[in-house]
Amino acid sequence: MTRPASTATAALRFPAGFLWGAATSAYQIEGAVAEDGRTPSIWDAFCRAPGKVHLGETGDVAADHYHRFREDVRLMAGLGLTAYRFSLAWPRVQPTGRGPASPRGLDFYRRLADDLLDAGITPVATLYHWDLPQELEEDGGWPARRTAERFAAYAALAGEALGDRVTQWTTLNEPWCSAFLGYGSGVHAPGRTDPVDALRAAHHLNLGHGLAVSALRSVLPAGAQVSVSLNLHALRPLTPSAADRDAVRRIDAVGNRVFLGPMLDGGYPEDLLADTAHLTDWSFVRPGDPAAVHQRLDWLGVNYYTPSVVSATPEGAAPAREDGHGAGSASPWPGADRVGFHRAPGERTAMGWAVDPSGLYELLTGLARRHPELPLMVTENGAAYPDEPGPDGAVDDPERAAFVHAHLAALHRAVADGADVRGYFLWSLLDNFEWAYGYTKRFGLVHVDYRTLARTPKASAHWYARVARTGTLHPPGAA
Ligand code: FCB
Repeated sequence: MTRPASTATAALRFPAGFLWGAATSAYQIEGAVAEDGRTPSIWDAFCRAPGKVHLGETGDVAADHYHRFREDVRLMAGLGLTAYRFSLAWPRVQPTGRGPASPRGLDFYRRLADDLLDAGITPVATLYHWDLPQELEEDGGWPARRTAERFAAYAALAGEALGDRVTQWTTLNEPWCSAFLGYGSGVHAPGRTDPVDALRAAHHLNLGHGLAVSALRSVLPAGAQVSVSLNLHALRPLTPSAADRDAVRRIDAVGNRVFLGPMLDGGYPEDLLADTAHLTDWSFVRPGDPAAVHQRLDWLGVNYYTPSVVSATPEGAAPAREDGHGAGSASPWPGADRVGFHRAPGERTAMGWAVDPSGLYELLTGLARRHPELPLMVTENGAAYPDEPGPDGAVDDPERAAFVHAHLAALHRAVADGADVRGYFLWSLLDNFEWAYGYTKRFGLVHVDYRTLARTPKASAHWYARVARTGTLHPPGAA
């Protein structure tokens, strides 16, 4: 008797033209922090502040991608990737954060884009993945409005110089982390802990995004696409009580709708303004700002790793004020700082994050329902495991392939249920500098030996290559 294959074992076909990618960011892989005119960013400074980053590690060398990008593009080609998401280091492209661009900084990205294009890989450039020029932080950082204006000027320089090669642009990566971890809990650079600064930063990141979209569109050739990547929180109440459901609402407001509202709907949600009214009257939002932020997007990037389980009070929550990137002494949730975060059930990655692909399905189908006309792209998803080479030098990481398989199956299900998802970017191409965790967390498809900087594709990379080459998802280990 023949039976239909179950979804656990059936091969799933993805839409034609679906982008198979991997993602990185400048500070996490490039190294060469003082070369060719690059100036320090807030992360260079933060790494040097005592006790902020595990063992005081820095991105000084990282994966040395600045010198090894040709080898890295060859690796990507060997993996059959059709797209690569990377970020431009603002302090490399425009070293003081204002004034003219640095030709040497731009040349690096020109060479990278050319190599990618020669290899048939679509470059997807993010303008800002957290490495603000330190000079701009000293002039106020993201809580200051002028940083948004400067970001738009930088976007225009970058778009003008690279728009002949790069047609896919993303303004910001995860502005939630920049605003609320950088200025709220202080676990990320620049390490400030002021809830009002965090809200001001969120608004100026929104404004910077909107101004940068306009600036890019004014310099890029027709057909170029502009987007933003958000780390949307997939939220579950600890219990079905009204109080826990209100905790979900609060975190959704200050975690998700603080960006989705102005970027996609043209304004801040009323409940967010009410939740934070004891902190600020939001007068830093000037008339005209909502229209400036609310720009048409060609697609929305979604970064997803794990869901969050929340309750109305912190009692019993462990660890308190955890957000996934480390617990600080202050809350990253202005207006919701009594909400408790709980460990989601299920297997965990080396970050302690629960493996739960249903959160990705919920986010994608929820966005598709609210914004049916907006194409989506999963711009980050992946997992850290303590991968080390075996005696034969091979790196076997079955958990990563299983993780990616399960999330791609969820993505496929979301597409079948109507979500217009155009591509998937695995975080990350290479093991790299994982922010406050230093080099302890390995997210790469490719292992990096930090002593020799040798690259070794892990078993999951070979598996992912087959998925990318065939456009079909087979379970890891299937013939
Ligand atoms: C995301 C960041 C990325 C990396 C992954 C693990 O929040 O965008 O740089 O740190 O988490």
